[in-house]
Amino acid sequence: MTRARTETIERLGMTVTKEKTSILHLGIDLGTSRSSVSASNGERHVVESFVGWPVDMVARKIVKKPVVFGHEALEARPMLDLHRPLERGLIKEGSEKDELAVRELLRHLISLTNPDGGQKVFAVIGVPAEAMRVSRQHLRNAVKGVADSLMIVSEPFAVAYGMDALLHTMIIDIGAGTTDFCVMNGRYPTDDDQRTLTNAGDSVDEQLMTLLRSKIPEAQFSIHMVRAWKEQWSFVGEPKRKVEVTVPVNGKPTTVDITTEIRRACESVLPPIIETMLDLISRVEPEYQEAVRHNIILAGGGSQIPNLAATLEAALAEIGGGRVKAVDDPVFAGSNGSLAIAADAPESDWEKLAG
Ligand SMILES: Nc1ncnc2c1ncn2[C@@H]1O[C@H](COP(=O)(O)OP(=O)(O)OP(=O)(O)O)[C@@H](O)[C@H]1O
Ligand SMILES: [Mg+2]
Repeated sequence: MTRARTETIERLGMTVTKEKTSILHLGIDLGTSRSSVSASNGERHVVESFVGWPVDMVARKIVKKPVVFGHEALEARPMLDLHRPLERGLIKEGSEKDELAVRELLRHLISLTNPDGGQKVFAVIGVPAEAMRVSRQHLRNAVKGVADSLMIVSEPFAVAYGMDALLHTMIIDIGAGTTDFCVMNGRYPTDDDQRTLTNAGDSVDEQLMTLLRSKIPEAQFSIHMVRAWKEQWSFVGEPKRKVEVTVPVNGKPTTVDITTEIRRACESVLPPIIETMLDLISRVEPEYQEAVRHNIILAGGGSQIPNLAATLEAALAEIGGGRVKAVDDPVFAGSNGSLAIAADAPESDWEKLAG
C-alpha cells in the first residue's frame, strides 16, 4: 500500500503541507501512433510514438540529443534512424532496435511525469487485447529497469474502467494499428469478451494513399500528409462539404478534390467493425443484449470520425436499436483508465520487476 510522508515547506510566511507518497502510480496507453501517460501526481502527457537516433556525427551536432521523441523526431526524420516501434499494436517482431525504442519511449513518458527521486514507479500499461496474448514478454523486457511494478491490461478494458462502464457495456477503441472491442460483464473480461481487428487508422491511411495515387499519379505526397488530411477531413456517409487539398504536381501547387477518396477510405473500416460489433452482441446472455446495445462507447482517435456513431446506430437499428457515443477525451481516456486501475489494484495484482 502507498505509504505517505509529509513535507512541510515554509514559503512566503505560509506553511504548506505537501503529501509525498513513496509510490507514483502511472497509467500508460502505449499506442501505435501516440502514447499517453496519466500520473497520480496529476501529470498528463501525450507523445507521438516515434523514436529516433541521430544517424551520424553531423546529425548529433544538429539534434544535440542522443535520442529524440514524438513530433520532434518526425520533423528531424532525415537526420534520424526513425522508429515507430509498434505495428498493429505489437512490438515489431525480431527487431532489437524496436524493442529498444519501446523502452526509450516508456522511459521518456515516465520522465515527463517527474517522479521524485525515491519514488517507486507502479505502471499499468494498456495494450491491444491481442497483444496481451502474444507480446507480454516483450513488453515486460522493455519495462524492466524503467518501472518497479507492472500490470498489463487490454486497452478497451482500461477505457471501460476509467468511465465506470463496467456492466453491460461495449467499448470499441479505434486506434491506429488496431480496433479493439471489449464487452464488460461486471468482471475482468476474458478472451471471449474481446476482439482485435487490424482495420483501423493505419489501414485507412494506406487505403487513402492507394486511392490518391491512382487518382493523381503525378502528384507528390507522403503518408504523413495523407494522415493529416484524413485527421482534418474524415467522415462517413453523405458528404457535408467538398474536401480539397493542395499538393505539388510536378513541383506546382495544385488543388485536388478528394471528397470521394476520403469517404471510401474511412468507410473501408465499417463492414468489419459492424460485423464484429453484431457478433459480440449476439454472444451476450439474451436478457442483457438490449442493455449492451444501448451502451456502446467509441474510443481512440478513430472515434472522432464525424457521423461514425450515427452509422453504427443505423446498423443496430436492424437488431432492435441501440446507442453509440464517443468518449469526451480520446487522447487520455485509456491512460486515465489505466491510472484508475493502478490506484485500485490490490498488491497481489502487480507484477514486481527485478532491476
Ligand atoms: N479526426 C480524426 N478522424 C479520423 N481519424 C483520426 C482523427 N484523429 C485521429 N485519428 C486517427 O486515430 C489514430 C490514432 O488513434 P489512437 O491515438 O487512439 O491510436 P493508438 O492508440 O496510437 O493506436 P493503437 O491503439 O492501434 O495502438 C490514427 O490513425 C489517427 O490518424
Ligand atoms: Mg490505442
